[in-house]
Amino acid sequence: MESLFYQLIVLVAILAFALPEAPSSASGTVIKHFHFNVEWKTVTRVCHTKPVLTVNGKYPGPTIAVHEGDNVQVIVTNKIARNTTIHWHGVRQLRTGWADGPAYITQCPIGGGKTYTYNFTVVDQRGTLWWHAHFSWQRASVYGAFIIYPRMPFPFSPPLIQAQIPIIFGEWWNGDIEAVENEMTLYGGGPNSSDAYTINGLPGPLYPCSIKDTFIQTIERGKTYLLRIINAALNDELFFAIANHTLTVVEIDAVYTKPFTTSSILITPGQTTNVLLTADQIPDSNGMFVMAARPYLTSVFPFDNSTTIGFLKYKTTTTSRSQTNKPPMPPYTLPSNLPEMKDTLFATQFLNNLRSLGSKDYPCRVPKKIDKRVITTISLNLQDCPLNQTCKGYSNKRFYASMNNQSFIRPSVSILESHYRNLKSEFTSDFPEMPPNTFNYTGVNPVTENMNTEFGTKVLEVPFGTRLEIVLQDTNFLNPENHPIHVHGHNFFIVGSGFGNFDAEKDPKGYNVVDPPERNTVAVPMGGWAAIRLYADNPGVWFVHCHLEEHTSWGLAMGFIVKSGKEASQSLLPPPSDLPPC
Ligand SMILES: *[C@@H]1O[C@H](CO)[C@@H](O)[C@H](O)[C@H]1NC(C)=O
Ligand SMILES: *[C@@H]1O[C@H](CO)[C@@H](O)[C@H](O)[C@H]1NC(C)=O
Ligand SMILES: *[C@@H]1O[C@H](CO)[C@@H](O)[C@H](O)[C@H]1NC(C)=O
Ligand SMILES: *[C@@H]1O[C@H](CO)[C@@H](O)[C@H](O)[C@H]1NC(C)=O
Ligand SMILES: *[C@@H]1O[C@H](CO)[C@@H](O)[C@H](O)[C@H]1NC(C)=O
Ligand SMILES: *[C@@H]1O[C@H](CO)[C@@H](O)[C@H](O)[C@H]1NC(C)=O
Ligand SMILES: *[C@@H]1O[C@H](CO)[C@@H](O)[C@H](O)[C@H]1NC(C)=O
Ligand SMILES: *[C@@H]1O[C@H](CO)[C@@H](O)[C@H](O)[C@H]1NC(C)=O
Repeated sequence: MESLFYQLIVLVAILAFALPEAPSSASGTVIKHFHFNVEWKTVTRVCHTKPVLTVNGKYPGPTIAVHEGDNVQVIVTNKIARNTTIHWHGVRQLRTGWADGPAYITQCPIGGGKTYTYNFTVVDQRGTLWWHAHFSWQRASVYGAFIIYPRMPFPFSPPLIQAQIPIIFGEWWNGDIEAVENEMTLYGGGPNSSDAYTINGLPGPLYPCSIKDTFIQTIERGKTYLLRIINAALNDELFFAIANHTLTVVEIDAVYTKPFTTSSILITPGQTTNVLLTADQIPDSNGMFVMAARPYLTSVFPFDNSTTIGFLKYKTTTTSRSQTNKPPMPPYTLPSNLPEMKDTLFATQFLNNLRSLGSKDYPCRVPKKIDKRVITTISLNLQDCPLNQTCKGYSNKRFYASMNNQSFIRPSVSILESHYRNLKSEFTSDFPEMPPNTFNYTGVNPVTENMNTEFGTKVLEVPFGTRLEIVLQDTNFLNPENHPIHVHGHNFFIVGSGFGNFDAEKDPKGYNVVDPPERNTVAVPMGGWAAIRLYADNPGVWFVHCHLEEHTSWGLAMGFIVKSGKEASQSLLPPPSDLPPC
């Protein structure tokens, strides 16, 4: 009886999946509804039990799976005595900036007990994205996959994919994450490093008490799988590899790439990478292969330098059910193809191999000419310790961070609302379009003196349709570091990058304006620069920031306004009636 019921459920599920075109609205667009309750859940990892902020009690959170073109409505109910917001990371949000999520940029937070419906349509995007909280450091545990199934078959071979497997990296703190953030804010020092990295919420057997919390993926020999890899870690860029297997990259940030095969990948917080994995090895007696992720370290400050591992398990006819979810006995050998933590050479080569697919069906729409170039430094900063305070940053000062020497302060009302309603606000549209002072940004000796910054809420404002280039220039303030810069509301094309200082005469001559990688988060080389181009074709207010959460907290961010165009279709839609007030 039970089994018949189960079969029925499966049948219904298959039918629902097979009929994605079934129109649910007058316009023929399919509407997909989701309910997110932001709530506490007691979770135990690494010998520590604590309340963890979750969506629907799940850690990591539930997967959102939709089809290209679907209208998505997520009813978010905040069941905690804190503010919250959710960001749909990488979703373009064409004209629907109200649904983007960053607190005080596009909305005021959802207060305790309140509900807000995020309503947006997924246009011309397909692949893996993700969602996460965008208030304080809540995204440490409030995150999940956002999968967009394509309307057309995958443009890569082999077309037969046995299964699609999300692999989400995260970070676990034994202590309370809010306390970690508060401590950092109070003393201006570096935050406590995490105590473990996780794969789908599981740290794996290299950490204490964690053998039972190990990710094990069963696969069949000869079959090909699509891994949807997401880096949801708060503060760390990661290398990932699977022992004895290669990975073929086919998509990044929900954009198809020219496929290329690699021994391992680099993935920064905010980025996603789809890879094909073929089970083409002959397993030994236990049938297991180690997969591992560890950080790419470019900072001289303390970092979590540990390694998380999980396993690929080849299905054998003798595998009994009880064995399936147990890792093999130690010792564990890390994949020999996993890069060392300071392997900048691998990081650079890997990133330089990424290319847009640029086919007839998926053309690469990189702006070949530009209307405006903005050059901005990205820096860490130090401010003197206020009198009678204790400061724990470098040389007993307070850490900050900035773009073009502007350390971003969030206003008290969302910039989008102020902009839309023409309210008097704290922000001004005069973000400097060049570094205010020219110096050797990437000279050898780290700068440790005169590292002050300015504080404010300056935004860059451009007319609709501007072909914009932004050059992101790392600096040697404190230490040169790789920064994952994320742009909301737009994908961009990484037309060039290099080490040292950007040279406006020479470097543009070497740009790739044929098939550069298209993404929403760029890893700006440590002690170097990256040039990104985008069409400012999405009216609204957008956050641009470093996706290392500690750097965002210190002000490594800016606002970016795209004005509405002349046509009705080029203007921001009016705000939804349930938009949270400030
Ligand atoms: C969602 O947004 C669309 C416009 O993009 C609007 O027509 C629709 O009424 C909205 N639905 C809800 C439930 O707010
Ligand atoms: C940060 O780490 C230190 C040293 O391990 C510890 O004493 C302190 O309690 C931690 N702070 C928080 C907020 O977890
Ligand atoms: C995996 O590769 C290592 C060398 O990196 C080799 O020693 C080992 O035998 C291989 N394992 C299997 C099961 O092929
Ligand atoms: C990680 O960092 C700690 C503290 O700085 C150091 O003692 C340890 O050797 C490092 N481990 C690795 C694997 O680099
Ligand atoms: C700093 O502390 C001293 C001694 O407690 C006190 O006299 C002084 O007024 C304080 N200064 C400020 C700016 O709070
Ligand atoms: C910047 O400093 C580096 C290291 O000292 C040096 O190699 C480079 O030539 C300098 N660049 C400029 C533009 O002065
Ligand atoms: C940044 O601004 C501060 C405060 O005005 C100033 O002291 C500092 O020299 C500026 N730094 C740079 C690199 O422009
Ligand atoms: C939540 O956000 C509102 C609106 O910005 C603010 O007034 C309130 O103080 C915040 N509450 C908490 C607990 O942070």
